[in-house]
Amino acid sequence: MTDLAHFITGLPKAELHLHIEGSLEPELMFELGQRNRIALPFKSVEEVRAAYSFSNLQDFLDIYYQGAGVLMTEQDFHDLAMAYFKRLAADGGRHSEMFFDPQTHTDRGLPFSVAIDGLLSGMAEAEKTLGITSSLILCFLRHLDEDAAFATLKAAEPYLDRIQGVGLDSSEVGHPPSKFAKVFAAAKSAGLKLVAHAGEEGPPAYVYEALDILHVDRIDHGNRSLEDAALTDRLVKSGMTLTVCPLSNLKLCVVDDLKAHPMKRMLDLGLKVTCNSDDPAYFGGYIGANFLGVAEGLGLSRDDLVTLAKNSFAGSFLDELSINKHLAAIDAYVASAA
Ligand code: HPA
Ligand code: ZN
Repeated sequence: MTDLAHFITGLPKAELHLHIEGSLEPELMFELGQRNRIALPFKSVEEVRAAYSFSNLQDFLDIYYQGAGVLMTEQDFHDLAMAYFKRLAADGGRHSEMFFDPQTHTDRGLPFSVAIDGLLSGMAEAEKTLGITSSLILCFLRHLDEDAAFATLKAAEPYLDRIQGVGLDSSEVGHPPSKFAKVFAAAKSAGLKLVAHAGEEGPPAYVYEALDILHVDRIDHGNRSLEDAALTDRLVKSGMTLTVCPLSNLKLCVVDDLKAHPMKRMLDLGLKVTCNSDDPAYFGGYIGANFLGVAEGLGLSRDDLVTLAKNSFAGSFLDELSINKHLAAIDAYVASAA
């Protein structure tokens, strides 16, 4: 391992943009397919990996929803979560605020409880065995209508004390945040935090809508905010956290090369950017690989990497005491690594 990779691995970090269904590795996909007698349209793990070539978000989503079809039981969701947490622990991750897509599962006939009970049990095991804390963010699929989102929020009612917030994912263009104004307002009234994917493929106007109509606490991606100087300035001044995902941006052709990734510009502008994996099984790497990719591609300094790690805790939904404990752990790590 290079010095840089070693430094990144040891750096305490939180992940704020991770779709748990996007951490389904082909090996586990095959194992669950066999366990649940679900035939896959691929003959081997290699064939699955070879199919992971995308030219845009929709290309990826089509194969991502198909892959999630092997998840059938609480045990499957538990195993999925634990496989992710082990990778996170190996990368120096201490905390994760994970997205899950209940509609992907309820639309296949699974009860709402199957996915969430399995995930919650994996999360409890990860805290006990790996010392990793985590929380859940329920994402509404934006290509579906707002009534379907309301039905999902209703199904989540018995679990509201175990759900941190709601988010908005899936096909962005043509499905602006304003389509979900009412259900986000209802989620806020229920005490939930609010986040939304905006400005990944969609225009800066969608980021404005996420801020002004949904009143989000964080923006997921947000890359295209940089096209609008007034918006960028507003994000800097308000200290809004952006959950940026470098390898995802590369694989979905949001950028052509990590050398051209806007992460360095974002840091230099003073945006509260964080570095995350999005759908690591599909995009070629977990959080450590995302840190390393931008560190090498953009020549980020150790100070830049420390800023990314600190932003991940400062922008998390942890309480202040926990945030301060993690920030102090980063300072102690940097002092020991000097
Ligand atoms: N963008 C939008 N929706 C998603 C993504 C993403 O990167 N990953 C999983 N659902
Ligand atoms: Zn995402």
